[in-house]
Amino acid sequence: MAPAEPITTANTSTAARERRDILVTSALPYANGPIHIGHLVEYIQTDIWARFQKLRGHNCWYVCADDAHGTPIMLKARAEGITPEALIARVADEHKADFADFRIGFDNYHSTHSDENRDCATLIYARNRDKGHIRARSIEQAFDPVEQMFLPDRFIKGECPKCGASDQYGDNCEVCGASYSPAELKHPRSAVSGAVPRLRESEHLFFRLADFEPMLKAWTRGGGLQEQVVNKLDEWFDAGLKEWDISRDAPYFGFEIPDHPGKFFYVWLDAPIGYMASFKHLCESERGRAAGLELDTFWGKDSRAELYHFIGKDIIYFHALFWPAMLHGADFRTPTAIFAHGFLTVDGQKMSKSRGTFIKARTYLDHLNPEYLRYYFAAKLGPGVDDIDLSLDDFQARVNADLVGKVVNIASRTASFITKRFDGQLAAELPEPALFDAFVAGGRGIADAYERREFSRAVREIMALADRANQYIDEQEPWVLAKQAGQDAKLQGICTQGLNLFRLLIGWLKPILPGTAAAAERFLQIEPLTWADLSQPLVDREIAKFKPLMTRIEPRQVEAMLQASKEDLASPSADAPGWAGGQISGQGGGEAAAGADHLAKDLIAKDPIAETIDFDAFAKLDLRIARIARAAPVEGADKLLQLTLDLGGESRSVFAGIRQAYDPADLEGRLTVMVANLAPRKMRFGVSEGMVLAAGPGGKEIFILSPDAGAEPGMKVR
Ligand code: MSP
Ligand code: ZN
Repeated sequence: MAPAEPITTANTSTAARERRDILVTSALPYANGPIHIGHLVEYIQTDIWARFQKLRGHNCWYVCADDAHGTPIMLKARAEGITPEALIARVADEHKADFADFRIGFDNYHSTHSDENRDCATLIYARNRDKGHIRARSIEQAFDPVEQMFLPDRFIKGECPKCGASDQYGDNCEVCGASYSPAELKHPRSAVSGAVPRLRESEHLFFRLADFEPMLKAWTRGGGLQEQVVNKLDEWFDAGLKEWDISRDAPYFGFEIPDHPGKFFYVWLDAPIGYMASFKHLCESERGRAAGLELDTFWGKDSRAELYHFIGKDIIYFHALFWPAMLHGADFRTPTAIFAHGFLTVDGQKMSKSRGTFIKARTYLDHLNPEYLRYYFAAKLGPGVDDIDLSLDDFQARVNADLVGKVVNIASRTASFITKRFDGQLAAELPEPALFDAFVAGGRGIADAYERREFSRAVREIMALADRANQYIDEQEPWVLAKQAGQDAKLQGICTQGLNLFRLLIGWLKPILPGTAAAAERFLQIEPLTWADLSQPLVDREIAKFKPLMTRIEPRQVEAMLQASKEDLASPSADAPGWAGGQISGQGGGEAAAGADHLAKDLIAKDPIAETIDFDAFAKLDLRIARIARAAPVEGADKLLQLTLDLGGESRSVFAGIRQAYDPADLEGRLTVMVANLAPRKMRFGVSEGMVLAAGPGGKEIFILSPDAGAEPGMKVR
């Protein structure tokens, strides 16, 4: 087998000169759940990069689609009493609206359940089959005798073979973390019907990944993968490349395999092909035809175009092994590079429904400007696979300080003079062209940072220049000149200079803040900015009246978003996360974990036991008995009581969400257990200096200790 061509990410110095053909994709979100802020890390990252390439004048196209096939989608539709087609149509509308409102600028958003994808999948399958890369073989699998269907691992539940915990999935235990095969599960049940699964034999088709080992090894070393990903792949190579099960038996929502009636392509077979299908659909659209787009230019074996897939680290196996192998086996080109990113945590923890940090894109949009999150993610994103944390306090502080306090401020400090004193007219020349040129020179480093996906560096460099621009205005004191006679020309020059520096900053931020940049372009009365435009100053022309381009984030907006996310939890449509969490998952087993239709969780969701903490973390808790000295309602919060707690001498004020369970008067004098060393937390109603422990299903049934528990205030609880 011929080795793949060496992969090189385009070199930035030549990049500026020649017009590159670039196709960019993000992973296709499953069509059975809403977009959440974890997903948005990826779509925002990709969008920034694609927008940057377009701004540089390259022929860059960004496509995506819904991933519409598979058992979870079939079962979810069934549970809702609708067809899978109706389900995926509804979800596609929701996804498209969420993405549009976050200003994710796809050039095409398609579906894997499309004619183009059926054609591409069939072609790729047939070519691989004809070259002998597909084999049929019988396997035994769990079968639900009631539903008459084979059960993916995630749809079998039972007792963990290691720790005995009940209600565990067929592939791993959420209590002790053990992984196993569904056959090892004790007292297994189908999560679909509750019936005891039987083993049944059936013929499956397998893709012989090992045929591609030499080609994959060469491709992996070709420079298109991040170092951490290369290391992970080496582990997988060492473990040996296994055959991949690419077929599923009916009933299944997917494409029937042409030469195997009753059998369907496994969802992960046609999912990446969806990238190609979406691009094909674009080529055949009016816009694609007008641009002269052709499938072959980007996907043909000898294509000179660049092809990049942005993905999360949980799906590397599919993208860095199966996908290039399938493409190569079907005589298509392989990707230029795969860019994997890490997972999102919120305030240092996995997104959690009970904390209100499992935030849907729509819930965020109901409360906050999408550009805030785009900026924050950009400020945090690097080129590696490290997880990124959304710290809600830092989020507010940073957006307010950087965007509102620094960037927008430059315009608001200078524009009003231009409007009021000079009829909106900018000066004919810049008073300090050298300063402008120094800024323009700074743009080169910023471009380089974008190109390498070092967005946090790009943001840092832009903000350093924003500081310099503000410093310039501080030094020039236009507000002082404005009060002096005969200083008009100078005043106009300084404000023109300030606005020109602002224009550069906004131009560089445009991939991150497309909405704010568009508003700034209207204010400056200019054509949409390109990177090349930025080297020439804007002088001797009129600008519009300045309107604030962005307002500060108020803490109450964030509070309201968290509250609404908690409320989402109560609604029956709330969807379980369905994400693989923390590490690069070891999907070396090919089918087992890699193939898991892991969104099964969606249908059989329960409140999972939180991640474990080690003993040291537990030992840090200072649990004390406290006497409730006073309990009072909190105005404007119908779930909260303000408790004054007596810790045997020390008094603490704590807010507790137990108002629905207790009359304040009944609480006074009772004992409770409290976390005494919890850092004080500023809440909307005041500072809470600890936390009261109570248990129960909620509402009226939340129990605290009785007054005669035989404990004294201040006693340590062990
Ligand atoms: N349908 C597959 C991808 C098929 S691509 C041919 C899938 N879908 S997904 O909806 O679960 O995830 C879509 C993308 O979002 C993936 O790249 C995934 O890694 C990413 N993320 C999902 N949750 C995430 C976080 N919490 N944090 C960061 N990225 C996350 O996988
Ligand atoms: Zn267990």
